[in-house]
Amino acid sequence: MKLWAGRFQKETDTLVNDFNSSITFDARLYQEDIEGSIAHAAMLGKQGIIEEHEAEKIIDGLKAILEDIKAERVELTTDNEDIHMNVESLLTGRLGETGKRLHTARSRNDQVAVDFRLFVKREIPTIIRMCLDLEKVLVKKAQANLETVMPGYTHLQRAQPTTFAHYMMAYANMFRRDVTRLEDCLERMDECPLGAGALATSTYPVDRFQTAAALGFKKPTDNSMDSVSDRDFAIEFLSACSILMMHLSRFSEEIVLWCSWEFKFVELDDAYSTGSSIMPQKKNPDVAELVRGKTGRVYGSLITLLTVMKGLPLAYNKDMQEDKEPVFDAIDTVEMCLPVFTAMLDTLTVLPNNMRKAASGGFINATDCADYLTKKGMPFREAYMIVGRLVNMCIKTGETLDTLPLKDFRSISAAFDEDVYQALELKTCVNGRRVYGGPAKEAVEQQIANIQAFIEAR
Ligand code: ARG
Repeated sequence: MKLWAGRFQKETDTLVNDFNSSITFDARLYQEDIEGSIAHAAMLGKQGIIEEHEAEKIIDGLKAILEDIKAERVELTTDNEDIHMNVESLLTGRLGETGKRLHTARSRNDQVAVDFRLFVKREIPTIIRMCLDLEKVLVKKAQANLETVMPGYTHLQRAQPTTFAHYMMAYANMFRRDVTRLEDCLERMDECPLGAGALATSTYPVDRFQTAAALGFKKPTDNSMDSVSDRDFAIEFLSACSILMMHLSRFSEEIVLWCSWEFKFVELDDAYSTGSSIMPQKKNPDVAELVRGKTGRVYGSLITLLTVMKGLPLAYNKDMQEDKEPVFDAIDTVEMCLPVFTAMLDTLTVLPNNMRKAASGGFINATDCADYLTKKGMPFREAYMIVGRLVNMCIKTGETLDTLPLKDFRSISAAFDEDVYQALELKTCVNGRRVYGGPAKEAVEQQIANIQAFIEAR
C-alpha cells in the first residue's frame, strides 16, 4: 500500500511506478533526509504537536534507520517511490502508530527542499578546499618560475613577453573568483525551507526557527511558496561549477598545447599521461583532455536544470524531481576533475629553454622597440610605424630585432643607438613591466602574496 493510497482504487501501473520513482538516485540524500526528520520530530515534540515521548521514540527509530542504511542492512524500494517515503515506511514498519505521526505538519515538498539544500550546502566546502589546493600548487609553480620568460599570446600569436609565474597567477585569480562565487552561493542558500509544508505552512504552531537552527541554517526562508518552488540555490551552484570548469578547461587546453612538439613548454609526469596502443612514440595529455571534455557535462547539468525550471508555475511540480541527477553528476565531475588536475599540474616539468626560444622569435619585443623610441621623445604612432617597417625588413632577411645590425636600425631612424639591444632583451622587456598586476618579478610577487593571504584567510 502506498503512503498516499487513500483515495485510489487501483494499484499504480508498474510502468508508472518505475517512471515515477526517484529512489535509484535520491537514496543519496538519506542522511540529510533523516537529519531533517529528526529536527522536525524534535520540534513537533517541543511544541506539543505530538507527545514528547513519541517524538523521542521517532528520533531513536530514525537514528537506527540511519545506521541500518549506512550498513546496507535495509532495502530501499521503488514501491516506496523516493527516499522520503522509504524512510517513513521503514519507521512506521518499526514503530507502528507512533511512526505515522512524523509527517504531521510536513510535506514531501518542504522535505525534499531541505534535504537537497543540506546536501549541496555540505558539498560546497569540499569543492572550495579542492580549489584552494589548486591555488597552492599555482603559487608553488609561480614561485619557482618568477624569471622563466615565455611568450604571452593574443589570437594565439606571440604578443608580448611574460613569465610562467605571471601565467600561473592569471589562473590563480580565476580560481580565487570561483571560490568566492561558491562562498556567495553558500551564503545565499543558508535558509531553511522546512516548515513550508506543501506550500502554505501549517495550522500547527510549527517553530521554523527551531528546525532551521537545529539543521545549521542561519534562518528559515521568508516565504513558504517560494521555499518549496525555489531551486535557485542549485542553479547558482551549477553556474559556479560551470564557470569553474570553464577555467579548468581553458587551462587544460593550454596544457594540451604546451605538451605538443610544436610548443614543448612543459613535460607531463609519466604518471599523469598515457600512451597510444599503436604509436609507440606517443605520450598523451589525456587528463587535461578529459577535464576539458567533462566541462561539457557540467554545462549540460546547468542547462538541464534551467530548462526544467523555466516554465513551472508555483509551487511544487513533479518536474522538479529532475533537479537531483544533474547536480549529483556535476558534483561528482568537479570533485573528480579538481584533484587530478591539481596533481597533474604539481608534477609537470617546466621547460624554460623552450619557452625562452619561443619568446625570442615572433618579434615579441616589437612594442618594447617602439617604447624605446618614444622614451627618446618620438610620438608613439610614429615609433609604431618605424618598428613596423623594421619588422617587415627582418621578415624579408630572416633576421630578428635582436640580431638586426645597428646600421639597418639607423637606415630607418637615426634615433636608434647601441643601447637598443639592451632595451630589446627579453629580461628587460619583462622587468620593465613593473606596473601593479604586471609580469615583472616584484609585481608577480605581490600577486602571489595576495593569493597567499586569500588562502590563509580560509
Ligand atoms: N521525489 C520528489 C522529488 O524529488 C519528492 C517530492 C514529492 N512531492 C510531491 N508532491 N510529489 O521532487
